Amino acid sequence: MNPNWKPGDQIISPVDQMIEIELDKIPPAEKYKLLIGAIVPRPIAFVSTRGKNGISNLAPFSFYTGVSTAPPCVLFSIVNHPKKGLKDTMRNIQETGEFVVNSVNQWIAEAAHYSSEDLDYEINEFERVGLTEIESTVIQAPRVKEAAVQMECKTHQIVNIGGNGPGATNLVIGEILKMHIDERIYSDGKIDFNLYQPVGRIGGPGYVHDPQITNMPPAR
Ligand SMILES: Cc1cc2nc3c(=O)[nH]c(=O)nc-3n(C[C@H](O)[C@H](O)[C@H](O)COP(=O)(O)O)c2cc1C
Repeated sequence: MNPNWKPGDQIISPVDQMIEIELDKIPPAEKYKLLIGAIVPRPIAFVSTRGKNGISNLAPFSFYTGVSTAPPCVLFSIVNHPKKGLKDTMRNIQETGEFVVNSVNQWIAEAAHYSSEDLDYEINEFERVGLTEIESTVIQAPRVKEAAVQMECKTHQIVNIGGNGPGATNLVIGEILKMHIDERIYSDGKIDFNLYQPVGRIGGPGYVHDPQITNMPPAR
């Protein structure tokens, strides 16, 4: 960052020689490594669902973002499991059309990470990782009590990419019906970033936390 920079100033960049990679010439695992290394840091949707069988499920998804405000929607992407096809989260969303996106705050980062464990559909992942399952107010999917933000969502649209083959993905677009926000972090319609303490995902096994914040003047 250069706090003294002004529009029109010369920019000194270390970028020089470029490597060109045509994505259709490299294997899927290599493409994945490039995407998760290049698109960083990523927020994490900690998604809780409940299947028709009544069993609750939890999993983190970092191909995630907010996409609209009218209606207010989030989007996250569920890549098919190489062996079982649909992941449990996707199966539950297909069955019920409902899910909760919980935040990953520093105090639950490890639990969120371990909830990505590949478990049988019949296992309740709240119990497995030791988080508290609480009921939602407008949908049937449960919330994570320890998460500072919990968004009750209903499916707006599911967009399939790549059919059913290996690497095939479903983009889940969900409309947020209700937000629950820890009152400590909420003031005057805003969320205090420093108290929120979100954790992001980078490439490989890395997570980012305690980021350095720089406020810029308006671009005008
Ligand atoms: C931080 C983190 C981010 C992840 N992001 C994604 C993602 O964006 N899409 C995806 O399909 N899997 C992602 N995974 C893997 C899933 O969490 C994992 O496959 C999980 O077992 C799915 O659970 P489920 O079968 O209960 O739905 C991620 C894992 C971690 C630890």
